Amino acid sequence: MKSILLRNIKSLAGIYKEGTAPVCGADMKTLPSCSDAYLMIEKGRIHSFGNNDDAPERADEVIDATGRWVLPCWCDSHTHIVYAGSRETEFADKIKGLTYEEIAARGGGILNSAKRMYAAGEEELFEAAWARLEEMKTMGTGAVEIKSGYGLSYEGELKMLRVIRKLKEKSSLTIKATFLGAHSYPEQYQSNHEAYIRLLIEELLPQIAHEGLADFIDVFCEKGYFSVDETSRILEAGNNYGLQPKVHVNQFNVLGGVKASIQAGARSVDHLELIHEEDVLALLSSRTIPVALPGCSLFLKIPYTPARQLIDAGLPLALATDYNPGSAPSGNMNLVNALACIQMQMTPEEVMNASTLNGACAMDVQQHIGSITVGKKANLLLTKPIPSLATLPYSFGSNLVERNFTA
Ligand code: NIG
Ligand code: FE
Repeated sequence: MKSILLRNIKSLAGIYKEGTAPVCGADMKTLPSCSDAYLMIEKGRIHSFGNNDDAPERADEVIDATGRWVLPCWCDSHTHIVYAGSRETEFADKIKGLTYEEIAARGGGILNSAKRMYAAGEEELFEAAWARLEEMKTMGTGAVEIKSGYGLSYEGELKMLRVIRKLKEKSSLTIKATFLGAHSYPEQYQSNHEAYIRLLIEELLPQIAHEGLADFIDVFCEKGYFSVDETSRILEAGNNYGLQPKVHVNQFNVLGGVKASIQAGARSVDHLELIHEEDVLALLSSRTIPVALPGCSLFLKIPYTPARQLIDAGLPLALATDYNPGSAPSGNMNLVNALACIQMQMTPEEVMNASTLNGACAMDVQQHIGSITVGKKANLLLTKPIPSLATLPYSFGSNLVERNFTA
C-alpha cells in the first residue's frame, strides 16, 4: 500500500486526540482544526499530521491540497440500500397529496418493496446496492450502516443479510449490518403478530447469530407497525444474541419507544421527528445517540428532528441519510448536511461533528474512523477549493468532494 502525503491543506478539520466519544451539546459548535497543514497516510492509516512546515519530504504520492479542506469521511449510520426496484409510482401518489401512511394502507410502502425483494436474486440485489455505495463514495461517504427489512420472511431476511455480508467483503467502505426483520408485519401475519415475532426470535435470530450476519438489531416502533411492548421483546431477544439495538422511533407518533429503546441498551434512536421533553431527559441519562434523518423529512414533508432542543440540552446528535426507496431515495450526505443547516438551525461545525465522529459512534466504528486521529484509518475526504467550511452546506445542490481516500 503506497504512502500518500497531502500538503498545503487549507484546513484539516475534525481533529480529536482520542476520537472515541461522541461530541455533545455546546462542544458540537467547535470543529477542532489546523490550518495550513499536512497529513501523511501510511498503510491506509493516518500516520501523522501537523503544520505544513513540518511535512515529511517524501511519499509515494504527493498531493497539493492548496485551497482545499481535508475532513473525516461522512459516516452514514442509517441506510436501507439493499432493495429491488424503486417506488416512484408512490412518489407520484405523494405529489397528488397522499401521505406515507395512506400509501402504505393501499399496499404501497414497505410491503411493496417486500414483494419486489421476494422476486429478486442475490446477484441483482448486490449489483444495485453496489452501485448505490459507489455513488455515495463519490459524495464523500466512508462508512455505511445497512439494514435488512424488506425480506420479511426467513429466506428473505437471510438473503438480504448475505448480500450485505458480500458488500462488506468487497467494498473499501466500512460497513455494518443491521437485522430489521421487524420493519413491518408481512401480509400473512397481519392478524397473527405472535407467530411473526416467534419467527424473528426463534428461527431467524439463532441463524443470523450462527452465520454472524448482523452487528445490530432494529425495530420500526410505530402505530400500525410494532408496538412498544413488541419492540422491547424483540430488542431483548436481539441482545441475547449480542446484537445491540438501533431503533426506528418517534417518526409519526410518540408512543414511548425512546425510553424502551434506552432500557434495552440502544446504541442509537433514529428519526425522532417528534420528541417529548421526557425523551430528552431519558436520553440525557443514557449513552444512546439520537440520529436525525433530514432527507426523510424533506421527502415525506414531515417535521424535522428538533436538533436545537437536543443539542442545547447537552446531547450529541448524529446525521444520516436513511437512504431507502420509500422515504428517502438519496444517499447524499452533503444534502443531508445542508438540510440540517437550513431546516434544523444547526451550524456548519455542528453538522460536521454530527456527520463524522457522532455518526461513527452511532454505528460503533469510532475506534477506527470518524476523526483526524493518528492511527485511525485514512477514511478521509478532500474537498474542491472552497473559501470556507460553510461553503459545503451552503452549496446545497453541489458535490464539492474532490476525492475520497477510502477508494
Ligand atoms: O426509515 N420508517 C421506516 N422505514 C424507512 C422507510 C422504509 C420504506 O418506506 O421503504 C424509514 O423511513
Ligand atoms: Fe430507516
